[in-house]
Amino acid sequence: MHILLADSDATEALGHALARTRPQPAVVHLQGDLGAGKSTLARALLRALGVTGAIRSPTYTLVERYPLESGEAWHLDLYRIGDAGELEFLGLDEGTAVLWLVEWPERGGAVLPRADLQVLLDVEGEGRSARLVASSEVGEQWLFRLAEATHLQAPSLQTG
Ligand SMILES: Nc1ncnc2c1ncn2[C@@H]1O[C@H](COP(=O)(O)OP(=O)(O)OP(=O)(O)O)[C@@H](O)[C@H]1O
Ligand SMILES: [Mg+2]
Repeated sequence: MHILLADSDATEALGHALARTRPQPAVVHLQGDLGAGKSTLARALLRALGVTGAIRSPTYTLVERYPLESGEAWHLDLYRIGDAGELEFLGLDEGTAVLWLVEWPERGGAVLPRADLQVLLDVEGEGRSARLVASSEVGEQWLFRLAEATHLQAPSLQTG
């Protein structure tokens, strides 16, 4: 699925739509260059799930954890990770996360759980584009729900 995101509001709307339609558990890999909008999308998703306090960038901590009703959401940014082995020291126990949002997943190597959904963000003129690729059956079903939800509720998200 390819989506044009004309401004950051559109990126946030996509985050909200992803939150509304998400499976549990869900693993999302957010890919794209510096400034492509990965954190904007992750933050909007977390807000839509009811996170009200500060949402810090995990650039230096590698991970920030947020309690949700059903478990924890983990926001990772692996841009500054030295080597994938550092992930093991974070004590991340897969079982307690109901949502993984991983920026720069390509730096996490095989220690990361496999994505259900890959979001590939790109700068497109003044705006951004997002390519959503399902990489599991759960992810495929998610994209079907998302297509319905964006069509019905967010006409500013153009799917094509
Ligand atoms: N669709 C959009 N159109 C224009 N600007 C956008 C859009 N989405 C996000 N932005 C803006 O792009 C800037 C960078 O966004 P963000 O920090 O989310 O990028 P990032 O991919 O997380 O970068 P980094 O890899 O450096 O962490 C922000 O100012 C944000 O508001
Ligand atoms: Mg970021």
